This record gives sequence, structure tokens and C-alpha cells, in this order.
Amino acid sequence: MPGIVIVGAQWGDEGKGKATDQIAERVDYTVRYSGGNNAGHTIVVDGQTYALHLLPSGILNPGCVPVIGNGVVVDLEVLFEEIDLLLARGVSAADHLLVSANAHIIAPYHKVIDKVTERFLGKRRIGTTGRGVGPAYSDKVNRLGIRVQDLLDEKILRQKVEASLEQKNHLLVKVYNRAAIRPDEVAEQLLQYTPRLRPLVADTARVLNDALDEGKVVLFEGAQAHHLDVDHGTYPYVTSSNPIAAGACTGAGVGPTRIDRTIGIMKAYTTRVGEGPFPTELHDAAGEKLRQDGGEFGTTTGRPRRCGWFDALVVEQAVRVNAFTDLFLTKLDVLTGWEEIPVCVGYEAEGRRLAHLPMTQTEFHHAEPVYEYLPGWSEDISGARSFDQLPQNTQRYVRRLEELCATRISGIGVGPSREQVVMLRDLR
Ligand code: IMP
Repeated sequence: MPGIVIVGAQWGDEGKGKATDQIAERVDYTVRYSGGNNAGHTIVVDGQTYALHLLPSGILNPGCVPVIGNGVVVDLEVLFEEIDLLLARGVSAADHLLVSANAHIIAPYHKVIDKVTERFLGKRRIGTTGRGVGPAYSDKVNRLGIRVQDLLDEKILRQKVEASLEQKNHLLVKVYNRAAIRPDEVAEQLLQYTPRLRPLVADTARVLNDALDEGKVVLFEGAQAHHLDVDHGTYPYVTSSNPIAAGACTGAGVGPTRIDRTIGIMKAYTTRVGEGPFPTELHDAAGEKLRQDGGEFGTTTGRPRRCGWFDALVVEQAVRVNAFTDLFLTKLDVLTGWEEIPVCVGYEAEGRRLAHLPMTQTEFHHAEPVYEYLPGWSEDISGARSFDQLPQNTQRYVRRLEELCATRISGIGVGPSREQVVMLRDLR
């Protein structure tokens, strides 16, 4: 089983880092294929907490080669900050990171544009992380982007920065009333990273294909999640890349037949940050309890996450588009202590009962959840290490989600640390 993809099945923050970390112990390459430092992976190893935003979380396993694929947008300041932080804490894999020559750079002006655009949108804002991710991807598609390889050729870099800023400076000055950004200053800022970057730059698509040819195990780590996908998510309240499993092919340069297993990560309830529809969102004390019990505050921005009950329609769509072979259920322990737990099994929208996510944004915005109520449990489940150690009602909850999502649940997270899992089958 050499090619494995991990994808969030909801709106992100499902605890992918933890699931990845379970598998990464036995993989040879761990690859980020989309997004930038808008991601936030929190992993607890030996009582130490690591919060990663850009680097693949499998980096914590010394045997893995970490890779940043061509589909990622890279903020070099963050990249080297994270590498230094990990090296200072003895994470040796940070030393042999490979970065795709084709990955795009988040330049300082992308961050400025991200923030001013959001401000300009006002009520219609997306609620981005403000890390410059969207503007960097816009430049990529507009063919005005700066790639990692451009930092290896000073003359080209200067030309490209100048070309990229030409229009933007008009916009900044005339529309947003901001100062123009000087291309030479940006080029200098970027070039200071070249000596450290040069030895990491690689044709990562070739490296990964060679590795797969040799039967090595490659783990593709999705950042963000299915419903934040620019094509399949709740557009326009999405990120600007393709976090779905198919994004691993374009974002890392491997063919679809290389993928043997796609694992969807889903939280036992639902959360979302930023704007956009969220039918099971709770605006009351129950939502606040989930937020507090689950520690639902953004790893990247510190924003309180919006919280609500598990929505089977949301996951079912992700199952279909990603063809998940397995699901990994996280944070089940957070639901301990509820007398009964609602699970969304349908919507009412504009007088109609829906069994699947509606086709249009209008219907989605008007969707009201239809709940089924499952009995809760009060026993502490954080010490369970096998399925039969879970209380009967917890087992029922898991089995019902499995049924509703029509996919086997192969792993369950019952606490924040690495060992707090119940594995039902091997994920590799
Ligand atoms: P951007 O990716 O910063 O452009 O933000 C677009 C949307 O995706 C916003 O609603 C963000 O809150 C959301 N988002 C981006 N990255 C993550 C993540 O890692 N977890 C959850 N939401 C995210």
C-alpha cells in the first residue's frame, strides 16, 4: 500500500495531524500537497505539544523524509522559523526537508493584499487566515507567481517581482489607499533566504515517483479539508486550493493510480472557522460547551471555532468525492457527559426534505438540520485502547456514524496525545 492520502472530511481542524502521526511512523515520505501556513496541526508527543502550520506533521517521525510539494504556497519566513523551532527541540527530520522547485512563494505583498481585500469586502468577507494564501494562488493562476526556483536566479526573480507588483501597486494606491510596495525591497527580502533554501530545492515529483517505484510508502497530508476545497467546498467560503484527495495528484505530481488508500478524518462533532454556511452550528450554551471541552480555538489564528453537532450529510459528500477507503474519528472523548447526542441525518430546505447536501448555495444557506438523537455516555473513555473497552453507547455512536457515512471507521481518537487511540484496523 504505498500511496496513502489523508484528507479532512469536514471544514478543517479535524485532528489530521494526530491521525497522520499514527501512520507516519511507518512511512518513508510525508508530503504536504496543498495550502500554505493557513493550516494548523497540533500534535502531542511525549507530553510536548507541537503546532505546525506549513511543514508536514509526519516530520516528527525521524525515519520520514518530509516534502513540500508543488501545490503548496510557501512563506519562507514561516518555513525557516518552523524548521529552526523543530531543530531546537531535537526533531532531526527537519534537517532533510525537500521543497519542490515549482512550489509558489507567498511574498510579503500577498499578505498585505489578503488583509486589505478582506477589509474591503466588509460583510461579504471570507474570514481568511490573513496569511496571503488566496492572493498567492491568484498570482499562480494568473501566471504572475514567484516560484521557489526563481530564488535561485536573481535576475529572473527581480523581473518577476516587478511584473507581479506592477498592477498590484496601482490597486494598492488607487483603490485601497495604501503605499506602493517597492519591487527591489521585496526581491532583497526574498533573496536573503536563497542560501538556506538552495540545498532543500528538489524535483520532488521525480523523487516521489521514484520512491513509489521502489515500493516506498508515501503519505500525502491534506491541509484544510474537503468543504474548504475551491471546487467542492462551500464556495466562496473556501480556501484557494484543492485539499481533496485528487489534489494530491496535482499538488505532488503523482498519477491517480499511485493512490492506494484515502483516509478521511472526521471529528465526532463539527467545527468551522471563518464565514460560510454551517447548518448544525450551535449558538447556545451547548455550542459553548463543545468549544470549551474540545479546546476549539484556532491553532493558526487563535479564533474561537464555530461548533455544532455531527453532520452526516457533510461527511457523506466528502466520502463520495474522495472515495475514502477508511474514516478516522477524532475527539470522541469530547462528547463524554451528554445525556443524548444529536446527529444530523437530513435537511429541511425550502419546504423539502434533503438526504444529501443541496446542489445550490442558496439551498445550503437555508438548510435546517433534521436530527436523530443517540444516547450519550458519562464514562471516561480517554484510557480505552480497544473498541470493546468503549461503553455500549459510545460503540453505538461510532457504529451509527459508520452506517450514515457508508464507510468503515478504522481509528478513533480518545484524547490529545499520540497513544490515545483505538485502532480497529491498520491504516497502512
Ligand atoms: P485562507 O485559506 O486563509 O484563504 O482562508 C479561507 C477559509 O479557509 C477561511 O474560512 C479560513 O478560516 C479557512 N481555513 C483555512 N485554513 C484552515 C485550516 O487549516 N483549518 C480550518 N479552516 C481553515
